[in-house]
Amino acid sequence: MNLHFESRTKTDKETRYREFITQYAALIDGELDETAVMANTAAALKEAFGFFWVGFYLAKSEEELTLGPFQGNVACYRIKKGRGVCGTAWQKARPIIVPDVDRFPGHIACSSASRSEIVIPVIHNNIIRGVLDIDSDQINSFDDTDCEGLKQIVDIMVTSLYQ
Ligand code: SME
Repeated sequence: MNLHFESRTKTDKETRYREFITQYAALIDGELDETAVMANTAAALKEAFGFFWVGFYLAKSEEELTLGPFQGNVACYRIKKGRGVCGTAWQKARPIIVPDVDRFPGHIACSSASRSEIVIPVIHNNIIRGVLDIDSDQINSFDDTDCEGLKQIVDIMVTSLYQ
């Protein structure tokens, strides 16, 4: 397979998501192991967009999320429902964009270098399997284009993985 996920700084964000999505479907096609697919999803996103931290937290119990496949610095293992950005996105079952983590009450700082964050729930058949969490070391990195692009990527992953 010949995939090119390297970041291209001069291309606009929408185009980068569109190009990513075309290649991403091929990357995960035919693989049904959750860990393997999430690991390559995190790697591909980090490679393509240069995010500071990309990974999944998995809803293995009703009470807390557990750290799943990721790319970046070491991170906290468990996040209680309703806590931090991830636990809140899980509880509310909706994406959350945090332009400045210092202004999000209860933000969990796994790394002091993280400045902004986006979290997208991973939902299949109305059940939340976990969340995709992406951190940036810059303030205000994420907008609606990221939210829409990442929701599409998560939808493709869910459709391919939990068929
Ligand atoms: N900041 C997250 C915790 C996970 S780390 O960013 C990897 C939160 O507040 O939920």
